[in-house]
Amino acid sequence: MQNIKTAIIGAGFMGPAHTEALRRLGVQVVGILGVDQAESDKAAESLGIPKAYASFEDVLKDKEVQVVHLTTPNKLHFPMAKAVLKAGKHVLCEKPLAMTSAETKELVALAKETGLAAGVNYNMRFYPLCLQAKDMVQTGEAGEIHSIVGSYVQDWLLKDTDYNWRVLAEEGGAVRAIGDIGTHWMDMVQNITGLKIVEVLADLKILHPVRKRPKGEVETFSGKVQDIQATENVDIITEDCGSVLLRFNNGASGNLWVSQATAGRKNCLRYEISGSKTALYWDSESPNEIWVGQRDKANERMLKDPGLASDAVRPYIGYPGGHNEGYPDSFKQSFRAFYHFIAAGDPSATPQFATFEEGHHEVVLCEAILKSHKEKKWITV
Ligand SMILES: NC(=O)c1ccc[n+]([C@@H]2O[C@H](COP(=O)([O-])OP(=O)(O)OC[C@H]3O[C@@H](n4cnc5c(N)ncnc54)[C@H](O)[C@@H]3O)[C@@H](O)[C@H]2O)c1
Repeated sequence: MQNIKTAIIGAGFMGPAHTEALRRLGVQVVGILGVDQAESDKAAESLGIPKAYASFEDVLKDKEVQVVHLTTPNKLHFPMAKAVLKAGKHVLCEKPLAMTSAETKELVALAKETGLAAGVNYNMRFYPLCLQAKDMVQTGEAGEIHSIVGSYVQDWLLKDTDYNWRVLAEEGGAVRAIGDIGTHWMDMVQNITGLKIVEVLADLKILHPVRKRPKGEVETFSGKVQDIQATENVDIITEDCGSVLLRFNNGASGNLWVSQATAGRKNCLRYEISGSKTALYWDSESPNEIWVGQRDKANERMLKDPGLASDAVRPYIGYPGGHNEGYPDSFKQSFRAFYHFIAAGDPSATPQFATFEEGHHEVVLCEAILKSHKEKKWITV
């Protein structure tokens, strides 16, 4: 794994997050590309990365680079992922995989054709206690799953003065809160249970049909601290929040509430998965504990501890019990799974990271959710 060399595209919130996580694994980040030379230079200098690329073509031509991470805005994922695969390099793309299911379908086919590793960074599935929940469900400890409910809520787009490229459909996709954070939740519960969402009924809401766009760009999550002087009005057609009723392929029911406008909830993904034996509840704002609900004895609260985790989960825990792990660790573990897969060189192995197929399914779900909202009826996925 330590011999693999990687380039990062994008130098905003995610570019440095990917770089730090890769370094913790010993992967060599040899170059970075920003939107222009100045951003490439600044990122390379502040992160101590040897090469500051001048263009995307320079990355594709760099023979030293075997893997490319895409951390650019969503609209660039499709053309960039396609070009990276065609250049013969493995690709790890940020979520969502692309803007439409036509694009994601094409990427799935191309990844298969090239035989290269192609992953989507649904990093949240790698919180150790979520992997533990997966083990508990898939070994039958939770029993037959009959309901899956939860939410993913944030507050950084609460005000009409809050702005980021994500609010524009042409930059981020036709569904925003669902695509940006709802897909993390859907990936999470489907990965834990091994079930698939097969029908949806959605009710989405736009709180601010007009937002005030600052003149100049706004860094992700920086709205509260950035001093904004002049703004211009911009029409918004992407949802700030919404509900989705769900049906799973085993007949289980569920619901998801997504919001980027819930005051005080900074980055809060919660799920409650109920089976015939136990129920499992987890909250990303307290990620080092999971609640196990019992019917006939006292409930349990398990703390993250490699000594208590199952064998399958232990390799994804970096620190002893009582030493908290959080969001950046989930990137490290997501990349660990991806790079182990590359290093093992066995395409028949089952990937633990989210594959392009899974990334495609998420975009198909987004489209079904939007259709359901527009047509006010259940949609079969
Ligand atoms: N997995 C997660 O938890 C998570 C969290 C946040 C964002 N994301 C995803 O990561 C991606 C990036 O989001 P972000 O919050 O980092 O956005 P951001 O706006 O902070 O960063 C985007 C970066 O891409 C650069 N860029 C734009 N066009 C480019 C081009 N043509 N070539 C090279 N660089 C270019 C921008 O200058 C900026 O540096 C999105 O797809 C988003 O959905 C994932």
